[in-house]
Amino acid sequence: MSVPQQRRLIFAHIDEPGYTNDLACYLKHGGYEVMKKAFARPPAELIDEVKKSGLRGRGGAGFPCGVKWTLVDRKSGKPIYLIVNADESEPGTFKDRYIMHQDPHQLIEGTMISCFANNVKQAYIYIRGEMPHGARILEKAIAEARAANFVGQNILGTNYSCDIFVHRGAGAYICGEETGLIESLEGKRANPRIKPPYFPAVLGLYQCPTIVNNVETLCHVKHIADMGGEAYTRIGTPNNSGTRIFCVSGHVQRPGYYEFEAGKITMGQLLNDVCGGPLPGRTFKAVIPGGSSAKVMRFGERYKGKRKVGAEMVDYDWGVEDVPMDFDSLGMIGTMGGSGGVIVMDDTVNMVEALANINAFYQHESCGQCTPCREGSLWMKKITSRMVHGDARAEDAALLKAVADQIPGRTICAFGEACSWPTQSFLAKFGDEFKGYPEAKKTKAAPAAPLI
Ligand code: NAI
Ligand code: SF4
Repeated sequence: MSVPQQRRLIFAHIDEPGYTNDLACYLKHGGYEVMKKAFARPPAELIDEVKKSGLRGRGGAGFPCGVKWTLVDRKSGKPIYLIVNADESEPGTFKDRYIMHQDPHQLIEGTMISCFANNVKQAYIYIRGEMPHGARILEKAIAEARAANFVGQNILGTNYSCDIFVHRGAGAYICGEETGLIESLEGKRANPRIKPPYFPAVLGLYQCPTIVNNVETLCHVKHIADMGGEAYTRIGTPNNSGTRIFCVSGHVQRPGYYEFEAGKITMGQLLNDVCGGPLPGRTFKAVIPGGSSAKVMRFGERYKGKRKVGAEMVDYDWGVEDVPMDFDSLGMIGTMGGSGGVIVMDDTVNMVEALANINAFYQHESCGQCTPCREGSLWMKKITSRMVHGDARAEDAALLKAVADQIPGRTICAFGEACSWPTQSFLAKFGDEFKGYPEAKKTKAAPAAPLI
């Protein structure tokens, strides 16, 4: 099977020599022309285009963007807010930062079109605290856009006004959970809210209807407004339209950012042909395909079942290399496409040490509201930590599983799942390494450097 070429929509210009992040360069490349045309259309038509496009959120959950916009409460009479979720913190994910650093005006244009479509008068970009450089670039870009009347009062001579403000987080992963983010933006501790029944689309920022979209998602809106929703569905595969940006890190020869049509490239093509395969003398052992919260996959394992192709149900029998890189295919084999962060591990990786590293991260980032998450993430960290420090007990593998199994579905936010899935999947796929650990450890060298 031939390897597809990259299809660069979001990254169309980003790596061109001489492409800079200032307004003059963006305008030279056709910047804000789509917005000018969009502002001449009825807002409802733009929402329809996004619905038709089938665009799924690129933050990780893959929720359809057009559906999210349709669920916004427009009858309450309250202002509608739009928040750009730029709190990119998922380990292995670094695409939004690249967009903001290299092409901030693309994000501003997509955001303004989305605001216009939804009658939003005030938008916020909530950027991760550890990205001060990105915040400065955005501030400068917004000032440029405001001076050129692409943002602010009576934009481009219309009677539509909308401003964008940058808000910096203070470095907590949970601020990326949309309701934690909203609490933080309101000046409070970022404790996620219970949902359902009330999603931000109904009760969000200051108890007003609020749209929260990821950075990359809003950039796609610009391209949908340009080409139309129908044309956008012809990129990618059914139910997985458009392109996907993969952030490949870990043990491959050419890690980096790659943008392909969703579902048109397999994991094997991405890792072997595009990223150059494993490092010399090594073999692939495991891959986490969608940020650290996704379940780990084991090379050499077969994944079997039935899937829908057109109107037909067909059998599939895939190795890791055969899986198409899209939300549905990765979901079918029990993991997820998530945020597009592909973390590759080769045969030098000790899976217990890798999990200990992930568990330390989640324990540190739990907001602590829910007992299963707060205590469970602590115990998972404690157990894997004593394993790597040579203090493991015979019952530890079973205890680790028991703790992890009691978290999902019992917490306020999806962090509960996110922190338990790594442990559950590492044990399911590499349980042999954990069971033999107390004895095996005595013969092993010191723990490797952290993977993530
Ligand atoms: P979710 O599935 O609960 O929600 C997804 C979106 O759909 C939200 O905006 C939610 O408000 C909306 N939604 C869902 N049902 C709705 C309804 N009935 N009415 C109105 N709106 C509705 O997932 P969540 O918790 O927002 O995100 C979890 C994902 O985030 C994980 O899968 C993970 O991959 C990803 N993630 C990404 C990070 C990053 O740095 N990009 C960091 C951490 C997690
Ligand atoms: Fe906080 Fe964890 Fe509960 Fe989410 S699941 S609200 S992070 S304690």
